[in-house]
Amino acid sequence: MNRTPAVLGGEPDFKTPAAFAKPTLLPYEELEPGFRDIITTGMVTKGHYLKDYEQALCRHLDVPYALGVSNCTMGLFMLMKALGIKGKVIVPSFSFMATFHIVEIAGLTPVFVDCERDTFTIDPEKIEQEITPDTSAIIAVNIFGNPPDIDAIEKIAKKHGLRFIMDSAHSFGTLYHGKPMGSHGDGESFSSSATKLLATGEGGVVTTKHKEIYDFIDQYREYGNDGSYDCQFPGINGRISEFHSWLGLKLLNHLENFAQARNRLAGIYTENLKDIPGISFQKIRENCRSSYKDFTILVDEKEFGINRDLLSEALKAEGVGTRKYFCPPGHLQSAYAKYRDKYEGVLVNTELISSRALSLPFYSHMEDELPEQIARTIAKIHHSAAKIKESLTAAV
Ligand SMILES: Cc1ncc(COP(=O)(O)O)c(C=O)c1O
Repeated sequence: MNRTPAVLGGEPDFKTPAAFAKPTLLPYEELEPGFRDIITTGMVTKGHYLKDYEQALCRHLDVPYALGVSNCTMGLFMLMKALGIKGKVIVPSFSFMATFHIVEIAGLTPVFVDCERDTFTIDPEKIEQEITPDTSAIIAVNIFGNPPDIDAIEKIAKKHGLRFIMDSAHSFGTLYHGKPMGSHGDGESFSSSATKLLATGEGGVVTTKHKEIYDFIDQYREYGNDGSYDCQFPGINGRISEFHSWLGLKLLNHLENFAQARNRLAGIYTENLKDIPGISFQKIRENCRSSYKDFTILVDEKEFGINRDLLSEALKAEGVGTRKYFCPPGHLQSAYAKYRDKYEGVLVNTELISSRALSLPFYSHMEDELPEQIARTIAKIHHSAAKIKESLTAAV
């Protein structure tokens, strides 16, 4: 590997840049009948495609109730409203911003908890340490599709009389102990935005085992109107259109293939990266399957030669798109500066992972050669690490 890295003036490895993520859709001919039907009937919202989609979701996820909603964030909000949550809500700091923003926006206080060093998911022991009389709920997240220890969290929630919501934004395609996600805790909220396995463009799904939660959200997503126009509570527009529902319905048939493809591609990445010094991987929870919503490596500067930020820059010069998920973590974001003192030196794993994690290009229809080529580029960068460090740090 003696080619000069692009960041030092060599030719980029990727003449056509390797996109970080792409939605995996279907041939237009397969989608055309539903779009035609929606357009010709004029039933663009609240029609039968939403009902068909929700029924298909219940079957696929093996859960009694599913609601198509405008997005996962709104789904989390509506679950919190349905459960009457007050005071403090435990959240992982190592997560996408929506997880804790919606808690703050709901007028509640997010309490940031550390993650496990190997799985990157919220640490149940740390959850228990943070519970006070003001705590009313726990929100846990499937990080990059890897589930947290849900059994342990459910036990803690029960023991302390807390509500438990899964932020299942990354959960389409995940198997927890062999079963799809959807029936944990009081409810789960999935995302079907553009980077997810089931990509309807925008959109989300709430699932629950509880009829009263289903009934509340069904009305809440309709401004709180039960049809009488005399609302018993204020609600919001949390609906999803017929176009999105039709697309979701069609994509659901392919979800298992997408999840299997991502697991195969993750295996190719791992095989090709595992011997490069300083690169390590997220540990997938035992007896579980990650959806691999993202494929993320950790970069140890000492062994790799340059840190995560410089690797990201060097890859960008080669035409490889990456994301620093999730940096900064919640407790270090400016929006939460008012809580910061409490977390000084506490969230050790979160800060370490957040400073080292780099998500690489990943999508369900990615060619098998791409992870191999990207791994070769990373190896090339590693071999020139000392020169890159000198050149990029001098430029700062
Ligand atoms: C962990 C997590 N929670 C919530 C969301 C928000 O999802 P949506 O865009 O559907 O609201 C995302 C988005 O990617 C996410 O990664």
